[in-house]
Amino acid sequence: PDMQSLLNLEEIEEVATKQVSKKCWAYYYSAADDLVSKSFNGLVYKQILLRPRVFVDCTKCDTSTTLLGHKVGIPLYVSPAAMARLAHPAGELGIAQGISTFGAMQIVSNNASMTPEQIVEGSLPGQIFGWQLYVQNERKKSEDMLARINKMSDKYKFICLTLDAPVPGKREHDEKQKDVGASLPVSSAVKAGEKAGRPGGGGVGQQLFWGTAADLTWKTTLPWLAKHTKLPIVLKGLQTHEDAYLAAQYAPQVKAIILSNHGGRALDTAPPAVHTLLEIRKYCPEVFNRIEVWVDGGIKRGTDVVKALCLGAKAVGVGRPALFGLGAGGVEGVHRTFEILKAETETCMRLLGVEKISELGPKHINSRAVERD
Ligand code: FNR
Repeated sequence: PDMQSLLNLEEIEEVATKQVSKKCWAYYYSAADDLVSKSFNGLVYKQILLRPRVFVDCTKCDTSTTLLGHKVGIPLYVSPAAMARLAHPAGELGIAQGISTFGAMQIVSNNASMTPEQIVEGSLPGQIFGWQLYVQNERKKSEDMLARINKMSDKYKFICLTLDAPVPGKREHDEKQKDVGASLPVSSAVKAGEKAGRPGGGGVGQQLFWGTAADLTWKTTLPWLAKHTKLPIVLKGLQTHEDAYLAAQYAPQVKAIILSNHGGRALDTAPPAVHTLLEIRKYCPEVFNRIEVWVDGGIKRGTDVVKALCLGAKAVGVGRPALFGLGAGGVEGVHRTFEILKAETETCMRLLGVEKISELGPKHINSRAVERD
């Protein structure tokens, strides 16, 4: 269908659901256990109310800001998500092309279906990428990947270390799709792990997790990383104020944290990022000054983006929306997804009476309905 006729992310997901394979849909849609965290991720934004100020000149609206010191056109980024080629042959490169004109950042998954070199090829000058790492049991494999990323530091500006999934969550939609290993569009990055005798069955998620290390710690993993890259570290998957506070102690090596429950795919009933943001505001607000705090999970509307920014997030990520955009219409589908989110974000800012991202703050929302302690 004509992408322009699709007006919101829900409609794009509907089209993608009809077009992609059952296996692809099950992998993207799935989340752990009863999908409680996945559904709360979206619901929590609906419960936060906006506080628009009127009688304000809103002819101008500027969504640009900086992330880790780099200028971006919008504080919206593509979260690392594996296997984009399951949805469309354009894959992760197609996502890069789809978002290129928005000045939005993209984090490339450790388990991408294309190599990190292919994905940044032909990207625009100033287009910013991060590379997400799942540390492998065979550390040498991760060290070799880091060496490849270091060589492309004009494109890859940081390493995103994912911490919330040392073991895979129980994703039943995905697990029902048996013996998918042989047909996975794996890149050279993950092929190595594949040979190590992965078992068949168990869905795409289980297949991809084979070989991933479960023994990461604050004390051992960050010094190891420092030996293998000078790129700043972004820690992904923090879900408590205690861990956010700890992460801030590792600045400046750690420059940002991503509050995330992995789109509800790891531990079901783990909190949506909004709750963790609220905890940090209450117990250790100094974290916001020491490191950048990013969030992901459940973002479907521009108003969601704005609410997260009001609570102190510096950037907001989308996982499934980028994949479903790709599944619905390839490069154009991704472009349309970001076009919608950007337009909705601008409309929201204007109707709040806000011209710049830096003006957004807690005074623009009422989050009492989701404050729990
Ligand atoms: C993910 N996510 C993820 N995260 C990560 O660090 N490495 C990865 O390889 C993947 N792979 C992946 C695959 C798929 C299909 C999905 C849906 C998600 C999690 C992702 O980065 C992000 O945290 C969530 O997707 C955010 O939630 P929404 O936007 O999907 O609601």
